[in-house]
Amino acid sequence: MSNTTERMLVLLLIILKEAGPTAACSSSCSSSCNCYNKGLSSVPQNLPTTISRLYLNDNVITTLNESDFSRYSSLTELYLYSNQISVINSGAFYNLTRLTRLYLHRNQLTSLGAEMFVGLNKLTIIQLNYNYIHSIEGNAFAKLPRLQRLILSHNSFHTFTLTLNDSLANISSVDVTNNPWHCDCRMLPFKQRMTGVPKFETQIRCAEPANLQGKSLLHTDDIDLNCEETSSSPDGVTETIAFSLPLFLSSLGGVVVGAFLASVVFSVMRCKMRKRKTPPDPVQNPSFVDINTHATAEL
Ligand SMILES: *[C@@H]1O[C@H](CO)[C@@H](O)[C@H](O)[C@H]1NC(C)=O
Ligand SMILES: *[C@@H]1O[C@H](CO)[C@@H](O)[C@H](O)[C@H]1NC(C)=O
Ligand SMILES: *[C@@H]1O[C@H](CO)[C@@H](O)[C@H](O)[C@H]1NC(C)=O
Ligand SMILES: *[C@@H]1O[C@H](CO)[C@@H](O)[C@H](O)[C@H]1NC(C)=O
Repeated sequence: MSNTTERMLVLLLIILKEAGPTAACSSSCSSSCNCYNKGLSSVPQNLPTTISRLYLNDNVITTLNESDFSRYSSLTELYLYSNQISVINSGAFYNLTRLTRLYLHRNQLTSLGAEMFVGLNKLTIIQLNYNYIHSIEGNAFAKLPRLQRLILSHNSFHTFTLTLNDSLANISSVDVTNNPWHCDCRMLPFKQRMTGVPKFETQIRCAEPANLQGKSLLHTDDIDLNCEETSSSPDGVTETIAFSLPLFLSSLGGVVVGAFLASVVFSVMRCKMRKRKTPPDPVQNPSFVDINTHATAEL
């Protein structure tokens, strides 16, 4: 065999191996299917049901529907990053009882539903970074008894509540860095119980208000965690009322009750303004204190 023929053969072998049946996104892939960057908008249903790794990253999937993966019950690794997933319907991962790694980073998720991850009994790692997640409903992660590593960095979380702490309490490694934390009165109940022991506590750095920007929540003073506008305009009193009244009402939840109270408060205020020419007295302050207690109770 001549040198050239030999080289050609080696080259041919390499090409065959690359494009071979082991990885293609078709019924002929074996343990691993390479379905990335194929313009897919839905989960292919024609792959062998015995596959253990599925690469679906860099496609244009927007929704994961119930049972989209249930025929692939042997999957141990599922790559869904860099799609446009904004909706994961309950039971989407149903039947994936062997899955250990789930990659959902760089998508469009805004909240995590309580039933989203049902069935993932062996999941140990989930990557959810670079989404727009601002809330975690119920106890979404309680459905993941083996979870060890949860990556939630680069999302849109504002407030770390005691409820969220409960969701994360049993997970040994949590990453919540690079979220726009608002260090205000809503964080106070959590902050007051912080010890710095779970490592993620030290990752919470304030993005707002401006005077706390970049500061670790753990090292803030309780007195700085308020929900009062820090504006120093001479009109400060009215600004505070204008800012805090909607918060107060929304925390009450009842629109009817809210509207009623608002009309009472405004008419009382108007009466007082008319009666005296002095600035509004601290009678309004109890309502402001109330706002804080309400926000606290909500957490
Ligand atoms: C998911 O279900 C919705 C209806 O619930 C349907 O419109 C959509 O095409 C489905 N998406 C996929 C990827 O199957
Ligand atoms: C779930 O997985 C089992 C095998 O573990 C399989 O027999 C069954 O058909 C799957 N369910 C669905 C809805 O595909
Ligand atoms: C944490 O794990 C323990 C033991 O596995 C369990 O009893 C407890 O309910 C879990 N807590 C949460 C918040 O999931
Ligand atoms: C978070 O939850 C854990 C487990 O319930 C608890 O030990 C810890 O004190 C809580 N941390 C805060 C800051 O509330």
